[in-house]
Amino acid sequence: MERLQKYMADCGVASRRHAEELITKGFVKVNGNVVTELGTKIDEKKDIVEYKGKVIKPENKKVYIMLNKPEGYVTTARDQFNRPTVLDLVKDVKERLVPVGRLDYDTSGLLILTNDGDAVYKLTHPKNEINKVYEAKLFGVPDSNTINLFRNGIMIDGKKTRPAKIELLRVDGRFSWCAITIHEGRNRQVRKMCQAARHPVATLRRVAEGEIYLGELKKGEWRYLTNKEIRYIKEL
Ligand code: URA
Repeated sequence: MERLQKYMADCGVASRRHAEELITKGFVKVNGNVVTELGTKIDEKKDIVEYKGKVIKPENKKVYIMLNKPEGYVTTARDQFNRPTVLDLVKDVKERLVPVGRLDYDTSGLLILTNDGDAVYKLTHPKNEINKVYEAKLFGVPDSNTINLFRNGIMIDGKKTRPAKIELLRVDGRFSWCAITIHEGRNRQVRKMCQAARHPVATLRRVAEGEIYLGELKKGEWRYLTNKEIRYIKEL
């Protein structure tokens, strides 16, 4: 139950104070009856509130967050094996969040979650060709052949990948660290591409999606996107 004036404010009709005025002036009906009593409480799930003859509903506040997903979490709401899910890590957010795309159980890094369906669509639609950048620890050291292979496309699951980029960051004994950029979101794509290029992935972390960067966010932590990041998504 909540006070009528707060409910009206949540619906974006007016500030709480102004809503009180509107109530006392007789502009508001609850379940068809004019209510002028300021203490009136309503049940937002059951009661129907009208302002000047129009039914009003709370605005669905849009939230956008980024999570640094640790390894060992699935990117679905429920897992058949009862493994922990990324939603377990953002429990403090009361809105119903949906992950944008997916990171494998054993991949870490940038995962955007939102309740804005348009944003999910824009970030995942292939026509927008959003750069997805991964930092990978690979077995062996990619050479110019690997670079060309990534550029020209690699057959995985019977279909050639779109042009992608692999850059060597540093060599570390038997391993190398590379930045890999892809524009698609096929199942385990980076792992399969690296496997096909004979440089299997040891660890994989997503560090950027378009102009949204993971930065210094620690594993398992999340933050709200900035206004600039939200604007970037909306303008896609
Ligand atoms: N490519 C992969 O192989 N795994 C991911 O989690 C994301 C991209």
